[in-house]
Amino acid sequence: MNHSFLMKMPIQSPRTYPISVGAKIDDVNAWLPTTGFNQIVIITDNTVKKRYGLDLQSCLKTAGHHCLLFSFPAGEKHKNNKTKQTIENAMLLARCGRDTLILALGGGVVGDLAGFIAATYLRGVPYIQIPTTLLAMVDSSVGGKTGLNTDYGKNLIGAIYQPIAVVADVTLLKSLPKKQIINGLIEALKLFFTCDAKGFYDAHLHLPQLINGDETLLIEMVSRAVKIKAGVVERDEKEQGERSVLNFGHTIGHALEKCSDYTLLHGYAVASGILVEANISSILGILTRESLLKIQYVMSQLGINGKALKKYDLTHLIEATKNDKKACSGNVRYVLLKDIGSVHITNGNYIHAVTDNIVRQAIKNTIEANL
Ligand SMILES: NC(=O)c1ccc[n+]([C@@H]2O[C@H](COP(=O)([O-])OP(=O)(O)OC[C@H]3O[C@@H](n4cnc5c(N)ncnc54)[C@H](O)[C@@H]3O)[C@@H](O)[C@H]2O)c1
Repeated sequence: MNHSFLMKMPIQSPRTYPISVGAKIDDVNAWLPTTGFNQIVIITDNTVKKRYGLDLQSCLKTAGHHCLLFSFPAGEKHKNNKTKQTIENAMLLARCGRDTLILALGGGVVGDLAGFIAATYLRGVPYIQIPTTLLAMVDSSVGGKTGLNTDYGKNLIGAIYQPIAVVADVTLLKSLPKKQIINGLIEALKLFFTCDAKGFYDAHLHLPQLINGDETLLIEMVSRAVKIKAGVVERDEKEQGERSVLNFGHTIGHALEKCSDYTLLHGYAVASGILVEANISSILGILTRESLLKIQYVMSQLGINGKALKKYDLTHLIEATKNDKKACSGNVRYVLLKDIGSVHITNGNYIHAVTDNIVRQAIKNTIEANL
C-alpha cells in the first residue's frame, strides 16, 4: 500500500510536492525525480548510515547516479552549526554544485539539519525528506521548518524551506526502539486531539498494534497525521494563525524540556504538556471533564501520566514557560482544546493568554489525577 498525495505550498516554488507514505526507499525509481540534478548527497547520522544509508547509496549507484554520503554522530547535541559547517565544507571540497540533490535520511535531527544545509548551500539546492523515525514521519519531515540549536536555545537559527518530496517508508521503523515509536505516536495524537476526532479514536483502538509496528495501521495513521499537518501548513505556512495549533502541548512541553536540561524526549515532554494544557482547557470550562478523562486514559495506555511532573519545581516550570515564542507582553499563551478534534478559537485567535495561577492549578490537577 502506498498513499501518495500532493502538498500545495502557497509561497515557495515548487508550489506542490509529493508525500509518499508506504513507499520503499530501495525502490529508488519510484520516488526519485528523473531530472533536475546530476549529483546526489545523502546526509544522515552514523546510526542510520549503518542501518540504511550505505544500502541506499548502493541502490542509487546501481541505478546510475553519482551519490556521496556524509554522516555525523546521532543526537540532538550535534544539530549545531559545527556539524553544518563540516558537511558543507565536505560538499564544497567534493565540488558539489547547484545541480546537487540532498537526501535527508534520518530522524528529525537529520531532517532539520540537512534541510537547513539545503536551504543555504549555494543559496539553496533541492532536497527530499526521507524520515526514519515515527516522529519525523508524522511531524518534522512535513512543513519545511529547518534549523539548528545554539548555545542560547533550541531551533533558534533556521529557515522555512520546503523539500521537493517526502518519502516515508514505514518498514524502516522496525529497527526503531519502542520508546521512539511512542515519542512519535504522541505527536500524531496531538494532531488528532486538535484536528481529527476520528483519527484519535482509530489510533486509540489500535495503540498496541501501532506500538508493535503493524505496517498497514502505521501507513494509515502516518498518512492521516501528515494530511492534517500538510493542510495546516498549506493554510498558514509562516505561523501567523492556524499553524499555532501544532503547538498544542508544546508550551508546557518546551518548558519541561528546558527544566530537564533536554534529557527528556520531546514527545514525552509534549505528552505531559498535552495533559496539563487539556487540564487548563477543562478548568476554563472549554473542554468537558469527560473529554479530559478520555485524553488522560489514552495517555495512560502509553505509560504516561501526571506523576512524571512531580519531580519538577512548579515555580521553575512556570518561569520556563515565559520563554515560549507565543508569549506576548509577558503573557504566556496557550492552544486550548474545545473538544477532542477541535481547538478553541475566539475572534480568529488560536492562542489564548492564561494566568500563572490557572497553569499552576492545572499542573497540580494533572499530578493528582488518579491514573
Ligand atoms: N522541523 C520540524 O517541524 C520539527 C518538528 C518536530 C521536531 N523537530 C525536531 O526533530 C528532532 C527530534 O527528532 P527525532 O525524535 O526523530 O530524533 P532523532 O533524529 O535524534 O532520532 C532519534 C534516534 O533514533 C535513531 N534512529 C533514527 N531512525 C532510526 C531507525 N529507523 N532505526 C533505529 N534507530 C533510528 C537516531 O540515530 C537517533 O539516535 C528535534 O531536533 C526536534 O527539534 C522538528
